[in-house]
Amino acid sequence: MGRKYDEILGVHNFRFACKEFDENRKVSEDDIKLILEVGRLSPSSFGFEPWKFLVVENEYLKEKMFSVAWGVQRQMPSLSHLIIVLARKKTDMIYNSKYIKYMMEEIQHIPKDMINPRLDRYKNFLEEDFQLLDDERSIFDWACKQTYIALGNMMTAAAELGIDSCPIEGFHREKLEALLEKQEMLDREHFGVSYMVAFGYRKEDPSRQKTRKPFNEVVEWIK
Ligand SMILES: Cc1cc2nc3c(=O)[nH]c(=O)nc-3n(C[C@H](O)[C@H](O)[C@H](O)COP(=O)(O)O)c2cc1C
Repeated sequence: MGRKYDEILGVHNFRFACKEFDENRKVSEDDIKLILEVGRLSPSSFGFEPWKFLVVENEYLKEKMFSVAWGVQRQMPSLSHLIIVLARKKTDMIYNSKYIKYMMEEIQHIPKDMINPRLDRYKNFLEEDFQLLDDERSIFDWACKQTYIALGNMMTAAAELGIDSCPIEGFHREKLEALLEKQEMLDREHFGVSYMVAFGYRKEDPSRQKTRKPFNEVVEWIK
């Protein structure tokens, strides 16, 4: 245990689910871009990046969201930046979709003769290994799971910069998606809402200590 350990634990102890931000302090554009870049660099299964990050700067939309997103009502008036993270649906994540073809050819630059074997492996993974094709929801939830890796990374990067955050699942998904669709911010054929995350600077330090189960209750060493 050295200074590096203290630094790392310091960052994770600093981070807490901030309920009220200092409304006079805004996160700088460079900092928010860095946080988003960390999200973009996050790992994903097969490298298919099944996400999109919506930075909500529209006050009208925030107002409209208030009634469908109970989990962000306390933060809404004072937060600096609100990000809605979308996850891709079956239309895109299925092995024979345009999106997967685009990812493999244009983004991953997989050599032509490698594409089919890779797709076979992916098809088998979806059908057999994880059985994600039984219904629309399973594959969407699998895409959502991956977006949470970006969430962890973004909140940690923010904490490293001294920026506070709060992850938000407190919303009615159907109503929020309908609202975003109406505002032409969401194409529900391709995406659904995974979660939201608020950033800003805390108004006050947390009023209570972190509650966590003891280390030995959550860690088991298999010898
Ligand atoms: C996926 C997820 C969703 C959450 N949704 C909300 C939310 O809607 N509103 C809220 O105030 N806090 C929300 N939280 C914050 C948790 O309540 C909080 O992280 C937990 O109680 C642990 O406290 P700490 O983050 O301060 O250490 C959420 C946390 C996670 C990880």
